Order: sequence, then structure tokens, then C-alpha cells
Amino acid sequence: MRNIDKKSLENAYRLFESGDIDRIEIGTAKGLQQIHTYLFGGLYDFAGHLRTNNISKGGFRFATALYLKEILVKIEQMPENTFEEIIAKYVEMNIAHPFMEGNGRTMRIWLDLLFKARLQKVVNWQFVGKELYLQAMERSPINDLELRTLLGAYLTDDINNREIIFKGIEQSYYYEGYEKGEEDA
Ligand SMILES: Nc1ncnc2c1ncn2[C@@H]1O[C@H](COP(=O)(O)OP(=O)(O)O)[C@@H](O)[C@H]1O
Ligand SMILES: [Mg+2]
Repeated sequence: MRNIDKKSLENAYRLFESGDIDRIEIGTAKGLQQIHTYLFGGLYDFAGHLRTNNISKGGFRFATALYLKEILVKIEQMPENTFEEIIAKYVEMNIAHPFMEGNGRTMRIWLDLLFKARLQKVVNWQFVGKELYLQAMERSPINDLELRTLLGAYLTDDINNREIIFKGIEQSYYYEGYEKGEEDA
């Protein structure tokens, strides 16, 4: 694991261990930026800052940097009362992809905060397979059914269970190719 990702993983653990997670704004771009700053502050100079370059992944072009601010205002206004609404909001936030790097890891924490606050549930990410998850995310801009089915199957009301939270963080870093205990390259 790269040093930068190891440090970021430690930051992610600390976000929950310290209780700072309870001070993050829920469902807003500001909240997302707060999480990004927490995970990547001192590691990336763009920590917490919206990107100014256009980026794509797997042939999918994320939102045009020039319109990012306006898009984020629109996303913040999306409802977040039901599971389906929260997923739809998450999908739009992924399409926005506000940061140059670290969107996935930041956004999954942001999503869980929404589920926790609105539904008193969180995702038990340790059971959400990497390939299925990434496929569902690739598909989500066109149709979010796969993502709803996948995450809906692993919601838990055991929201204060440390093991679920910490295994979830590890899984989130694993999706992005970082494994705990992996030798440094
Ligand atoms: N082709 C795609 N279309 C839409 N979303 C994607 C695609 N590929 C990856 N993603 C989403 O983007 C995330 C990766 O974004 P990135 O900024 O690299 O975050 P991180 O650095 O945390 O990995 C994935 O976790 C997934 O949610
Ligand atoms: Mg990445």
C-alpha cells in the first residue's frame, strides 16, 4: 500500500474513533468536502477542494469542472428521505465526482452518514463484493437498479457496531486497490 493511502486509511479510522464523524454536515457538498479534507489533508494539496480539470473513468466522463459548483447546489437540493432517494442522490454525486482523487472513499462515508441519519441504517460493506460494487457503480449513471439491489441487501440497523464500521472502511479502501497489510511497492 502506498504511504499516502496508508496514512489516509489511518485518517479514516480516526474520523470515526475520535467522534469527529458526528460533526460532519450530512447530505451536502460541504460535508463531502469536510470528509475529503479529513482523509487527505496534508496528503494531497487539493484535499477538500473541487477539481478544475475534467476527468473520466472506464470511458465515462464525469461532470464538467466548469459547472461543478452549480451541479453541487442541485444535488444538495435532491430529497433524501427514502432509500431510493438517497441512492439517487449518491449516484448524482458520483457523476459529479468533485475531487481529482479520493471520490469513492469519501463518498461512501458520506452515503453512510445519510443512511444513518435518515434511515437509522448503514451499509455492511464487508459483504458487498468489489466486482459487483464497481459494476453497479459503472452502470449507475444509466440505471441505478443494480446498485439499489446490491446495497439494499446489506443494510443493517447495527449502526454503532465498531467492527461493521471499521471493516467497512477497510473494504472501501480495498475497492480502490489498497489492502491492509499489503507490502509497500
Ligand atoms: N466507469 C465508472 N462510472 C461511474 N463511476 C465509476 C466508474 N468507475 C469508478 N467509479 C466510481 O468512482 C470511484 C473511484 O473514484 P476515485 O476518485 O478514484 O476514488 P478513490 O481514489 O477513493 O478510489 C469508484 O469507487 C466508483 O464508485
Ligand atoms: Mg482512485
